[in-house]
Amino acid sequence: MDNFILSTERLVLRKMNRDDMESLLKIFADHEAMKYYPSTKNEKQTIDWIEWTINNYAKHGVGLWVVEDRVSGEFLGQCGIVPQEIDGIVEMEIGYLFVRRFWGTGYATEAALACKNYGFEQMGLRKMVSLIDVNNLPSIKVAERIGMKVEKTVHKWDKDVFVYSVSNHQED
Ligand SMILES: CC(C)(COP(=O)(O)OP(=O)(O)OC[C@H]1O[C@@H](n2cnc3c(N)ncnc32)[C@H](O)[C@@H]1OP(=O)(O)O)[C@@H](O)C(=O)NCCC(=O)NCCS
Repeated sequence: MDNFILSTERLVLRKMNRDDMESLLKIFADHEAMKYYPSTKNEKQTIDWIEWTINNYAKHGVGLWVVEDRVSGEFLGQCGIVPQEIDGIVEMEIGYLFVRRFWGTGYATEAALACKNYGFEQMGLRKMVSLIDVNNLPSIKVAERIGMKVEKTVHKWDKDVFVYSVSNHQED
């Protein structure tokens, strides 16, 4: 599979493509999943998201990837590495969004940990971050489970967000 990025015990991460729209809508059309985003997304906005992601692959070599069940191939969510500007500096963010039916399974933590390892080992990054709405406790818990600590609070996307971060100590 030439879209393959990485696999874990239970998951496969692969590149997103235009055929993923229906699957992505399982997240984007869900008010509960989009609680900490400005709104749900319709089909057109989902296509824009896919285009933004494909553009990230071309420009940065990374972006959000599709997470599938390693055995069944079922779509579970998205997780990956996304460039984000924080206080004028571009940092690499670990992002994750999963279909609500699969919350509480540890999939997000498993995928995010694999992305952290990918960033440090394959890309040679020294630091990775997660930008998290200060009220998004499930997301905060994922960041903490993969070893991130809160660094500061910034105002971005018209709200207060925590900057969680982790450094690659092997580089020190
Ligand atoms: C953020 C999000 C991915 C977190 O999902 P999650 O299901 O809480 O995270 P995980 O998949 O890692 O599962 C962890 C939970 O499963 C439990 N769990 C069950 N089996 C597990 C396993 N094998 N390994 C680890 N945890 C397991 C954990 O105890 C934990 O539960 P707890 O939070 O009650 O302690 C999810 O809430 C989401 O998609 N939200 C919408 C999008 C979003 O806001 N994204 C973040 C933007 S910053």
